[in-house]
Amino acid sequence: MKHLLVFAHPRRTSLNRAILERTEHVLESMGHSVQVRDLYKIGFDPVLTEEDFSSMGRGQIPEDIKKEQDFVAAADVITLIYPVWWAGMPAIMKGYIDRVLAYGFAYAYTPQGELQSLLAGKKGWIINTQGEAEEIYRKNGMSRSIDQAAEEGIFDFTGISPLGRLCFGSVQDAGEEQGKKILDELEKKIRGLF
Ligand SMILES: Cc1cc2nc3c(=O)[nH]c(=O)nc-3n(C[C@H](O)[C@H](O)[C@H](O)COP(=O)(O)O)c2cc1C
Repeated sequence: MKHLLVFAHPRRTSLNRAILERTEHVLESMGHSVQVRDLYKIGFDPVLTEEDFSSMGRGQIPEDIKKEQDFVAAADVITLIYPVWWAGMPAIMKGYIDRVLAYGFAYAYTPQGELQSLLAGKKGWIINTQGEAEEIYRKNGMSRSIDQAAEEGIFDFTGISPLGRLCFGSVQDAGEEQGKKILDELEKKIRGLF
């Protein structure tokens, strides 16, 4: 399968980066092809501008958006990897969704106003870490809110079949031992999913 890993974390020594690297390594070892888009590293511009709207309205897709859309179009599975920030995604990841999953590429409407989900046939997966304990977010409904915004608001809307959201909680200042446990659990999950 062709995998696209879209990654958002600015720190080179982050747990999220270790998650990205393990995911890439395990998928490749299983014979999958993997493309990584590291949004901070490539300096992705997350701001959807008036100019974006007007050029896309004329059917001209800005070059940086087109490049990312080509990666999405080529992928069978799109995996978003990011830490939970303010009960959602880092702004750079949200801006990637705003700009890349654009009208006419990821979704459209028929003249009768019916939604067309243009990315049908692809699968989507999310890997998150968060400072709060999973149990607390599950009990107070926050986990469900995060799931719903991503899985229904983004994946379902565009026709991508959601594979779920794997979230590692209580990871604030994760030590070496906790990090190892997380990466081993992640690897097991990847081998089960694909
Ligand atoms: C700007 C910012 C916002 C955050 N918001 C939340 C939050 O809403 N809920 C939560 O559980 N943790 C929150 N955290 C904690 C991060 O999720 C946690 O530090 C991260 O998952 C740890 O992974 P890392 O070592 O790869 O950064 C926040 C951290 C930052 C820097």
